Amino acid sequence: MTNCLDEMNTALVGLQWGDEGKGKVIDYLCRNSDVIIRFQGGNNAGHTVITGGKKFIFHLIPSGILHKNKICAIGQGVVIDPEVLLDEINNLQKSGVSVTPLNLKISPYSHIIMPYHRIIDSLREQKRIEKIGTTKRGIGPCYKDKVSRCGIRVADFITPEKFALKLKDNLREKNPIFKEAYGQEEFKFKSIYTKYKKLAEKIKPFVCDLTEYFYQKQKKRFLFEGAQGTFLDIDAGTYPFVTSSSVTAANALLGSGLPYIRIGKNLGVAKAYTTRVGEGPFPTEINGKYLEFLQKEGGEFGATTGRPRRCGWLDLVLLRRAVKVNNINSLVITKLDVLGGLKKIKVCTAYKAKGKKLKTFPYYLDKICPEYKEFSGWGQDVSKIKKFAKLPKTAKIYLNFIEKYLKVPISFISVGKEREEIFRKEVTC
Ligand code: IMP
Repeated sequence: MTNCLDEMNTALVGLQWGDEGKGKVIDYLCRNSDVIIRFQGGNNAGHTVITGGKKFIFHLIPSGILHKNKICAIGQGVVIDPEVLLDEINNLQKSGVSVTPLNLKISPYSHIIMPYHRIIDSLREQKRIEKIGTTKRGIGPCYKDKVSRCGIRVADFITPEKFALKLKDNLREKNPIFKEAYGQEEFKFKSIYTKYKKLAEKIKPFVCDLTEYFYQKQKKRFLFEGAQGTFLDIDAGTYPFVTSSSVTAANALLGSGLPYIRIGKNLGVAKAYTTRVGEGPFPTEINGKYLEFLQKEGGEFGATTGRPRRCGWLDLVLLRRAVKVNNINSLVITKLDVLGGLKKIKVCTAYKAKGKKLKTFPYYLDKICPEYKEFSGWGQDVSKIKKFAKLPKTAKIYLNFIEKYLKVPISFISVGKEREEIFRKEVTC
């Protein structure tokens, strides 16, 4: 069933610290979209889609690729590890999914993650006093080179003389630093160049100037796929415990290179509780039996690194901030089923510091104390439910409270792992 909401171009973003279940929502929304574009991040992301008992994990390619007659694109705001991208293409093709230059387009302005980016990511993390807990995929160092204007773009990568020049220039600068600061062996130009030139040849057919290509296709329906979550955003997040890209909805057009598209809906995805991977403040974090319960029931282990996720209660103060930061006008609540086995559920409704309720969102989240409201659990499996009206009364109370607090309607609710275990709550146009 389609409705007025499906007619709008949509930006979909995570409202917490990533892992909100965006992959599954994207997969659902793809049915009513023609073009699906990733606009930031890299293979630090891991979107999981389970279909027909098969699990697909996407790190770079939009999960829309599983659908026929869709165009998927990787925008200029993304950083690409070519080995990971080619592996992903090969694995999809082996599973019978069609991935060709007709349905996958890669911006020539995206930047390439090189082996030295991955290594410096790990080395720097080891040496830092204030550790971030990065995914060690070379994301931060690659974005750093981009901003320093010594990065290697996809366009350079597929142009052998440019690639050779830029690689030489980078190694001339980086090798002495690596040796001096980290006692690391020098990177050899020849071995990297030979290996990466072959990868570039395989990627070349997919490269497409997205700004020009989609200019003629503005009537199509666009879905902008965000990775990570609002509080990992380089500007709006819990800096320095963030990723290195602009995660929020405002970057959807810039990061994809399509400034002429009008986005009608900013859809924010939030779990029915909260998780975080890596270091950094987390006001509603829990330990002990509730942590074990959520990790087990929610499968809270990173899709990219396998690290156990930190877990906590739903934080509405945090979500209210995310709603403003992204100008969210529609919500998706995921993993409602995970809370099914709990008798009591807590939700953070205010922050306190030095015994006083805070009236504004604090600059730092590490010293605040959450104030909770308690809800009764629903104590039953909700994964087969397809309608809001059929949910247990206590689950409806929980969801209605979230809507009322955030003053944003919930449009979709995800109630299970499987592709079909998601339904529309309401339509407001
Ligand atoms: P980086 O993006 O690898 O530099 O990692 C920076 C921080 O962002 C770390 O705390 C990571 O755990 C976190 N992070 C990066 N990507 C994701 C993601 O897709 N989901 C959840 N956390 C992420």
